Amino acid sequence: MQTAPRHFLSTLDWSRAEIESVLADAKQMKATRKSAQASERFGAGALAGKSVALVFFNPSLRTRSSFEIGIFEMGGHAVVLEPGKGAWPIEYRDGMVMDGEAEEHVEEVARVLSRYCDLIAVRAFPKFQRWEDDREDLVIKGFAKYATVPVVNMETITHPCQELALALTLKERLGTTDGKKFLLTWTYHPKPLNTAVANSGLIIAAKLGFDVTLLCPTPEYVLDSRYMDAARASVAENGRTLTVSHDPASAYAGAHMVYAKSWGALPYFGRWEDEKPIREKHKHFMVDEQKMALTVDGGKGLFSHCLPLRRNVKATDAVVSSPSSLVIDEAENRLHVQKALLRRLLSGHAK
Ligand code: CP
Repeated sequence: MQTAPRHFLSTLDWSRAEIESVLADAKQMKATRKSAQASERFGAGALAGKSVALVFFNPSLRTRSSFEIGIFEMGGHAVVLEPGKGAWPIEYRDGMVMDGEAEEHVEEVARVLSRYCDLIAVRAFPKFQRWEDDREDLVIKGFAKYATVPVVNMETITHPCQELALALTLKERLGTTDGKKFLLTWTYHPKPLNTAVANSGLIIAAKLGFDVTLLCPTPEYVLDSRYMDAARASVAENGRTLTVSHDPASAYAGAHMVYAKSWGALPYFGRWEDEKPIREKHKHFMVDEQKMALTVDGGKGLFSHCLPLRRNVKATDAVVSSPSSLVIDEAENRLHVQKALLRRLLSGHAK
């Protein structure tokens, strides 16, 4: 009998021990990647003869390149598909009369790709009209429902691969994460953005044993209860705290890590003109040298962001280019953690 594949849709379904194990493999991948002998490179042939479909409904620089290169480095083959561009537009709701734009249903797409490929990875951002609809995450859930191979989330309403990269980077720079202060700060951006990386930053920091502070302009920017509740459960399990703050000075005080992201307020999905005046009033939430000076040990806190980042809008040049900035390390680590994840999912370790 065929067993159901193990997916990587959200870290909420993965224990801390499982995440730590993937990170340990990623560390080994990173340490041995440049070894002269291919046989000494951890995971070098792990994807030999295997193919991966990378399905992008939205643009990408880091995710696409790190997945394609990682698959190549492990001896596999990646096929990139862009529904609605080079591939047919897809319907993902069941029971629809398909008389609109979509030419095929996710059931056929997932089942056909499962015959060709060993794994399917999907990027599908929210539609930004009704959060009640977007929070159902129907596109990737449709792939997971019908695929007979593992499905990996390359960013939908969370960004779990970014979480792994952030976690590896934090471990590299902080050693132990337990009991340290992680600040997730909202920043200004001229457009309302996805909450995915904010949701992800929150839940992975809580899982890793940080005391977590969420800094945002008003209560309307607090994240979805699914992720707030999960973070509260994790910090309780770890004997830590989760604090919501609207005051930058106290939120930055003593932080070991400042993780910046902009996101749109959930109650304003689909009526962004109403949200704009609030956002415009909080341009001062940009991460700057004065705020970073409030962090641990007289300003020795670390800074990161998932990228892409608008300089001098979300964070100043001085912060992004400082030795405390982890943005490039975190982006590099996408490669190592995803290789470790794919190896695990495709070698059956996670079952
Ligand atoms: N951080 C991240 O996912 O980058 P891309 O959108 O460029 O893939």
